[in-house]
Order: sequence, then structure tokens, then C-alpha cells
Amino acid sequence: MSLRKVGIIGTGHVGSHVAFSLALQGEVNQLYMMDIDTKKAQAQALDVMDAVSYLPHHVTATAGPIEECGDCDVLVFSAGPLPDFYQDRLESLGNTVEVLKDVIPRIKASGFNGFIISISNPADVVVTYLREHLDYPAHKIISSGTALDSARFQKELSTRLNVNRRSLSAYCMGEHGGSAMIPWSHVAVGGKKLTELQEEMPHRFPELDHAKVLDDVKIGGYVVLEGKGSTEFGIASAVTELIRAYFHDEKKVLPCSCYLDGQYGVTGIFASVPAIIGKDGIEEIFELHLTDEELEAFQHSCSVIKEHVEKANQM
Ligand code: 2OP
Repeated sequence: MSLRKVGIIGTGHVGSHVAFSLALQGEVNQLYMMDIDTKKAQAQALDVMDAVSYLPHHVTATAGPIEECGDCDVLVFSAGPLPDFYQDRLESLGNTVEVLKDVIPRIKASGFNGFIISISNPADVVVTYLREHLDYPAHKIISSGTALDSARFQKELSTRLNVNRRSLSAYCMGEHGGSAMIPWSHVAVGGKKLTELQEEMPHRFPELDHAKVLDDVKIGGYVVLEGKGSTEFGIASAVTELIRAYFHDEKKVLPCSCYLDGQYGVTGIFASVPAIIGKDGIEEIFELHLTDEELEAFQHSCSVIKEHVEKANQM
């Protein structure tokens, strides 16, 4: 029997909520908290331990240095600054690269070789940098990417269509940020394309203002940031879903930022696409047949990521 151990680097708003979401949902046996502020990491671990009497099953939470995370099964990277209100996530690159320069040799020293989920912003640039500098196998590292934007999109769509979110097949692709795009031609309701429903039942499924929906999705995170100073419940739930798919070998199709090796005409960077996640990490990426306009929007988003990866490598 093996116990599931998750290490979390960066135990601020996002990291601590990921930890607690995993504990609450019964998806972890051991949590290992790491932070430059060692007192905070300790405190987060103790706070989880205080909750154990009321959790669905037992969890242990400890804190310690990154060099000792080698026995974790999953490593979550959530260190670095939150974007300021309405600041583009790409603008936090310099600060996060500073953190990465410190953290990468320490992860290497730990001997960790499990599955990595990076959250820190700018998500796609950071995970590309992390993989390159850790020299890590591409299928064993992802970023949460547009798992969160996709949840926001599903929320918008569900409200507009009056259909439960879980009956929708609807993803955001590309960058977790300003250039994210929606492949509208692949949005489906209970397996039937939304475009067909709109053609056949225009009163029930009227045309949507695509630009407005995408705008609402993109602005969603900032509204939360402005209102409460951080986003945490959504991202913690998205990351828990990704870790669950990995631990239980679910072979689930989830949108997340994966290493692209020619898919959609893109190579050498991470960007979000729907992918199959199981015990081997990213097990398959199948390509959607995007319309010319969608492919152009996706490739544009990837070019934004690539440009910033180049910047990061010069920092
Ligand atoms: C989010 O979208 C700020 O990237 C963070 O919630």
C-alpha cells in the first residue's frame, strides 16, 4: 500500500488552499509544506492538523525544506507574487523567475521525480521555464493553465444556456491570461454541438456574443482579486481535480497547460489544450480540428507565451 504524498512549494493563499482542498476531498495522505517563510509553512501544516478530527480520512501535514521533498508523489509549485489588480499576469514574470532560480537547484537536490503541477503566474511561461531548467520529462509536468479559465467559461455558459456545467464540454485554450481563446466550434451540450443546437432550436439556444463571453471569462479572476485580494477556491479545486486524475489513473480529459511537441503546429512551449491525464501524467494529447480563425487565435496565444519564455531565459 502506498500513501499519497503531496509537496507544496509556496504556502500563501493559493498553496494553502490547494493543501486544504486536497485534505478536505480526501485526495492526500501526507502534505509537505515548503515556504521561504518557514514559520508560515509550519503554521499552515499545523492548521491542517487541527482540522483532521473532522476530515473524511486521516491526513498528516508537516513542513520542511525543499531539499527534503524527494519522497513526494506530486509537487505543486505555487510560490511567487499574486498579480496586482488588473495587472497582466505576464508582468509578474521577473519576480517569479527570481523565485525559480532559487527553487530549481533545490528541487534537483531533493531527487524528486514525481508529477509536477505548476500554478505560479505567468503560468505557461513559468512551467516552460521550470521544465527546461529542471530538464524534466515533458509528460510529468504541467501547469493548471486554463483549467481555471475553463471553469470560469463553464460558469458563464451554464448561466447563459441554463444547462448544468457538468453537461457541457467547453474549454479555454492557449495562455492562462490575456490571450486565452475559446474553440467555440467544439463547445457541446450533452454531446451535441452548441452550433447545431443554435441552428435547430434558436429560441432555446440563441446566438451568444462570443467576444463578451471571453471577456467575462478573462475578467473573472480580476473581479475576485479585487474583491478579496486573492483567488483561491477556484484554483484549489482545479488543481485538486488534476491531482485526482493522476492519483486514480482516471484517464480524464482535462484542459491544462502541457508541453506541445508539434500539436496545433506548436513546438517547445507549454500551452493549454485538452489532454488525457492518468498515472503517467499527460498520457495523450489529441488534436481538435479547429477552424482557421480558432487555430490562428491559439497560435497567437502560443506566440505570446514563446516571446515571454525567451524573456525569462534572458533574466
Ligand atoms: C487567476 O486567474 C490570478 O491567475 C489567477 O485566478
